[in-house]
Amino acid sequence: MASTYGAARVLVASNRGPVSYTVSEDGSLDAKRGGGGLVSGLSAIGSDADALWVCSALSDGDREAVRRGAGEDGVRMLDIPAGMHADAYNGIANSVLWFVHHMLYQTPLEPVFDAEFRRQWASYEAYNRAFAEALAEEAAQGAAVVVQDYHLTLVPGMLRELRPDLRIGHFSHTPWAPPEYFRMLPDDVAGQVLRGMLGADRLGFLTERWAQAFTECAERFAGGLGGTRVGVHGLGADADFLRKRAHEPDVEERMAALRQEIGEGRRTIVRVDRTELSKNIVRGLLAYRRLLETHDEWRERVVHVAFAYPSRQDLAVYRDYTAEVQRVADEINAEYGTPGWTPVVLHVKDDFARSLAAYRLADVALVNPIRDGMNLVAKEVPVVSDAGCALVLSREAGAHEELGEDAITVNPYDVTGTATALHEALSMRPEERAERSKRLAAAATALPPAQWFVDQLDALRG
Ligand code: G6P
Repeated sequence: MASTYGAARVLVASNRGPVSYTVSEDGSLDAKRGGGGLVSGLSAIGSDADALWVCSALSDGDREAVRRGAGEDGVRMLDIPAGMHADAYNGIANSVLWFVHHMLYQTPLEPVFDAEFRRQWASYEAYNRAFAEALAEEAAQGAAVVVQDYHLTLVPGMLRELRPDLRIGHFSHTPWAPPEYFRMLPDDVAGQVLRGMLGADRLGFLTERWAQAFTECAERFAGGLGGTRVGVHGLGADADFLRKRAHEPDVEERMAALRQEIGEGRRTIVRVDRTELSKNIVRGLLAYRRLLETHDEWRERVVHVAFAYPSRQDLAVYRDYTAEVQRVADEINAEYGTPGWTPVVLHVKDDFARSLAAYRLADVALVNPIRDGMNLVAKEVPVVSDAGCALVLSREAGAHEELGEDAITVNPYDVTGTATALHEALSMRPEERAERSKRLAAAATALPPAQWFVDQLDALRG
């Protein structure tokens, strides 16, 4: 792993890094390693590649690790000033860019590009510059740099100016907005985002659809792609890891607890999300309510296991949505619940082992986002479920391009349509469900994370 400036040959840059720290009572630092595609991708290229991950220090523990110079090898955390980070991450990335690419604005929730926005935008620029400078400092001559996501759209252009020798890639884990929606951004800001991205040699997207939308934006508002290449890499689920992890004792324990909550002989409809508007959890609950209303044969015979893990709680719009999810779940339980049956089992405390336990028990997986870059839950449940599950899948999830054939497709806005799809999924013959689930799992694991990352790197260097 790289330890001296100018030595890294492969660099990854992202807001959230692969590790986070907490300070324990005796003052020592506890490191918690994250998972996900990038982590397994980077480990696949091996330690001899002089890899370095540049990310933000997000917690007090992270900042303490930076101060003590105690971070892990191969990770450089940037101690971005708290105000700048809040503006860039909460203000611009998660309020504006996330909402634009997921097309979440609707009256009365509409963007206001005022003086406050301009102030936050200046922070976003400064935050991107801090990354570009750190990368420029760390990268060896001719190194490959892969910048991640909407937090860092300006980095490729800035880095190109500082270090023309580098191979610069950018990968988007979100959708990209079509031109008619993207143009909602002020012209100069839209131009900066596009020019920042086009500073890369190669841009990666999760599906053709998002790559196409970016290309159209570039053509309409930035005079085309110039020398930038665009590629598609549809990140898949990590079958080996998931299957092994899903059979460890802590998952078995949580299965036993969940079975208690669900009750004997009942079907389960499972969903697992970070709680935010694009995931469309409320309409999913309303669809379930509609199912109970119109198909009373399912009352007492089905449970909706909904795990909605709080996300980005500094922002009021995410907090309000979290409260709304809880409110609607409570309403359904009050309306339909009986002494022996809780129709909705909602959990909000993030627990990966419990998520895997729910995956294993799932008869039906409900994945109904308004718009989603890929959605890995749709890919993970069929891989893990014990008896095979039926997948109710939004046509607006990137995963639909690969899984659409064996899923039951829904329009995410259509609550009654989603209720019908749930009924169809619950009624599917077990043999058909198992066959479809097998095909879904095969499609879902076609591009495992390690290969996904290596492919990007090869394409960038090629
Ligand atoms: C999406 C984004 C990621 C982000 C993740 C979690 O998947 O594409 O870049 O890390 O959400 O969101 P958070 O704001 O907690 O990092």
